[in-house]
Amino acid sequence: MKIAIIKECQTDEARVAITPEVVKKLAALKLNVTIASGAGLAASYPDEAYRAAGAEIAANAEAALKNAKILWKVHAPTEAECKLIPADCVVLGIMAPYQAGVLPRFNAAKLTAFSMELVPRITRAQTMDVLSSQANLAGYRAVIDAAAVFGRAFPMMMTAAGTIPPARVLVMGVGVAGLQAIATAKRLGGMVSATDVRLATKEQVQSLGANFVAVENDESRQAETAGGYAKEMSDDYKKLQAELIAETVKKQDIVICTALIPGRKAPVLLTEAMVDSMKPGSVVVDLAVEQGGNCPLSSVGKIVEHNGVKILGYANMPGRIAFDASALYARNLLAFMTPLIDAKAEGGPQLKINLEDEIVKATLLTQNGQTVHANFVGK
Ligand code: NAI
Repeated sequence: MKIAIIKECQTDEARVAITPEVVKKLAALKLNVTIASGAGLAASYPDEAYRAAGAEIAANAEAALKNAKILWKVHAPTEAECKLIPADCVVLGIMAPYQAGVLPRFNAAKLTAFSMELVPRITRAQTMDVLSSQANLAGYRAVIDAAAVFGRAFPMMMTAAGTIPPARVLVMGVGVAGLQAIATAKRLGGMVSATDVRLATKEQVQSLGANFVAVENDESRQAETAGGYAKEMSDDYKKLQAELIAETVKKQDIVICTALIPGRKAPVLLTEAMVDSMKPGSVVVDLAVEQGGNCPLSSVGKIVEHNGVKILGYANMPGRIAFDASALYARNLLAFMTPLIDAKAEGGPQLKINLEDEIVKATLLTQNGQTVHANFVGK
């Protein structure tokens, strides 16, 4: 059975959906991997490394996709890509199914499409969790990017010429990305504070040696959904929280924004007035920029300068650390796909999709030209 991998066509995407390590593991499932030439180059995986791991290299996407039964992607296949994919091909990727046109496109091409960002956060699926694997690296990279444009040092330095104070860093939103941002800023020697509406994060922040800043009241004690995500907060809470944050922000050199609410626009947490209160030379990284931004001044793909404060709005942060992001993503896909393959079937491996399985139900979008996911049927 043939698995195909092609180069992602988005200009800002350096990631690739497979690595040589995972090619070898697929061989153990008796699957043949064909990779379009150059697909991994931007992530520093050359054709030779894939070939040495046992993959076949095809001249282009069209040749790679011929007779493919499975396709691994980072992003949803585009219209042009869909035209090359054989009908009934099983496609795994970060599909963004809420975006207009995605599901009709998949149905027209009769794809069996799975959306990796919908993998439920249950213990069994932890190894398949692409949101976590990519957010973790994004949180790390956000701090590194901040350090790179910050005209000062992160750690305290005591030199013969005098003492340099440590950078003060505030992390807004303590999910997967925020926790890694805290850990990275601490490793660099920064003085780190963090805030979140979910009070459960207080202990996590403190265990990393950072200071927790948040309004604690009855509302914030219930700010977490059963799934562990944040709820939208009341206007009263937002006002109290904004006052506390405004006082904190004034003293910061670097603010890393990571706050998200699933399915909604990101909350505005760092207002223009707060940025005005920051010292020239300070840096803001808005990881939420693609969901509308935690800071209204951030702009997708740009570094905005506002009264001497640099606001970084890089899109696709995991793509800025493409080698490792691809490695973790490919392992996530392998973990997801392994239970879908009957490797011992007579006559070679067969696809066996159990439609009753909790993970399949949560992720399968389309099959046989129809939308099958409960959240999207009839929409
Ligand atoms: P996310 O990317 O949806 O949001 C980032 C953070 O922003 C969250 O901590 C959220 O509470 C915070 N936030 C939202 N509105 C805010 C506001 N107004 N002010 C300040 N902060 C705000 O979160 P992520 O990283 O996806 O994690 C969500 C939850 O999932 C966490 O509880 C995490 O521990 C949990 N999780 C569970 C996993 C599992 O397998 N069981 C794996 C990964 C995460």
